[in-house]
Amino acid sequence: MTVSPTGSRSSDLSVTVAGIPLRNPIIAASGTFGYGVEFEDVVHLNKLGGLVVKGLSREPMAGNPPPRLYETAAGMLNAIGLQNIGAQAFVDEKLPRLRALKDVVVFANVFGYTREDYESTLQILNGAEGIAAYELNVSCPNTAHGGIQFGSDPRLLDEVVTLAKRTARRPLIVKLSPNVTSIALMAHVAQEAGADAISLVNTFLAMGVDAETRKPRIANVTAGLSGPAIKPIALRMVYDAAKAVKIPVIGMGGISTAADVIEFMLAGATAVEIGTASYWDPCATEKIVDELETWCVDHKVEKLAELTGGLVTE
Ligand SMILES: Cc1cc2nc3c(=O)[nH]c(=O)nc-3n(C[C@H](O)[C@H](O)[C@H](O)COP(=O)(O)O)c2cc1C
Repeated sequence: MTVSPTGSRSSDLSVTVAGIPLRNPIIAASGTFGYGVEFEDVVHLNKLGGLVVKGLSREPMAGNPPPRLYETAAGMLNAIGLQNIGAQAFVDEKLPRLRALKDVVVFANVFGYTREDYESTLQILNGAEGIAAYELNVSCPNTAHGGIQFGSDPRLLDEVVTLAKRTARRPLIVKLSPNVTSIALMAHVAQEAGADAISLVNTFLAMGVDAETRKPRIANVTAGLSGPAIKPIALRMVYDAAKAVKIPVIGMGGISTAADVIEFMLAGATAVEIGTASYWDPCATEKIVDELETWCVDHKVEKLAELTGGLVTE
């Protein structure tokens, strides 16, 4: 615990993920924080541990037709369809501003529909300054393999992570899909294929129906569920994954308070991402950093990183 000249106390919130030092474990999650620059006026970006930008592909994508979002009990359904401006436009139009802001740790989230898509997108990003690491979104249908998700099949996961690791000139975080039977197996496969860290969970496959109109709530019919509704399942998956690997784990799924962060860390997470919470409060990420500072001082935790994996089971 550090005591300032005015007598106020502070704890050490710093963590290290995939060799990247972060001032605290709070990272804004992909798809819920634009390209970071859109939040510049609402959040002090350099107070966060880091931010993950919207998923990037080789070419720009328009995404799915509306409705694409629907609020459920304690959660949110989305089928945005991975709309994005494309990796090159990100490098040319967004990254220079993020670089100018200084002290902002930027993670680039990458996805594709074939292995070659992942490879070309990483090659475009490799040439740009100002990205700390890549987060590989494997919750995408592989169009060359009948649409099965890369992240739902151990062999496809191994192939895409091996290729990405060979291509990436930066640390590689593999973001796992929760739509699997054994998350521990997928975490292990990602590690053995070269991942420097894993992050989980992405959204759960779900759907909503309007009983009056008899129509689906989302034009795409099926969608991804996020928010507090998924927190207990995400927590269990982080716990199972962390036990299966030696690399750091970034946990997420329904986090909206400092206590939620602590729960994920005790279950084995080194850092966390905050997604849907930014939809109901755009300042959520920064508020959670403040809350976390207070939580640590109140609970006499001097070094937050020491809580990782500290679940008491007996
Ligand atoms: C509207 C929306 C868009 C998202 N887009 C992406 C994306 O582009 N890439 C990705 O890896 N995850 C994406 N996600 C998943 C989130 O990053 C996060 O994994 C998930 O929402 C669970 O965390 P949460 O409950 O805190 O939102 C998206 C989630 C939402 C709600």
